[in-house]
Amino acid sequence: MRSKSLIAPSILSANFARLGEEINSVMSAGADWIHFDVMDNHYVPNLTVGPMVCKSLRDDGIKDFIDVHLMIEPVNDLAKSFASAGADLISFHPEAVESSKETIDIIKACSCKVGIAINPDTSLSVLDEIINEIDLILLMSVYPGFGGQEFIEDTIEKIQAARNLIDKQDHKIYLEVDGGINNETISRVSKAGADVFVAGSAIFGSSDYEQTIESFRQKIS
Ligand code: DX5
Ligand code: ZN
Repeated sequence: MRSKSLIAPSILSANFARLGEEINSVMSAGADWIHFDVMDNHYVPNLTVGPMVCKSLRDDGIKDFIDVHLMIEPVNDLAKSFASAGADLISFHPEAVESSKETIDIIKACSCKVGIAINPDTSLSVLDEIINEIDLILLMSVYPGFGGQEFIEDTIEKIQAARNLIDKQDHKIYLEVDGGINNETISRVSKAGADVFVAGSAIFGSSDYEQTIESFRQKIS
């Protein structure tokens, strides 16, 4: 079953010197989740922030849903740290772990929801043994590592395939798409079956967050 459409601004394109304010601005502009991109300069060639920053946001009073996207290797210890720091959902890339099942169990034991992030060149078959255990599929529509890249059109077919797979399950699984989402691409992504839309540069690079989020909503309704 498809959930209500959710907009998840990626902090990667926010002004990090004013991160708390930026988050409050996008949430009051109508966003649903905060997408928290974690990069380690090892699994991907870029470096962002760790659990301390997530905890600081919580300590500062941010209560919104924090959707953590781990682009790191190894995963397990930092996943636990992010759970303690206040993450609501943690996604990881299966290539970065020894056993997806084990990592899923670790994240669930911390009372977090769990997602599997799927790179453009990774097949949906990585989900075969674990689909019953997960809350979200995070389909990458760019190669992970940087904001502001162009949407990879082949992702559309993969979104449709993932939607079919999800619709055969009897528990709720979000279908999140991440990378190159903007006013031009979002309606195709929505029609193909996504229900969570990550956007970094298209939101934080716009001069009016509310207007941008509103125009996204019109294109996905
Ligand atoms: C890429 C990140 C994305 C990225 C999206 O590795 O996972 O979340 O920030 O940025 P845009 O929307 O600019 O493509
Ligand atoms: Zn991401």
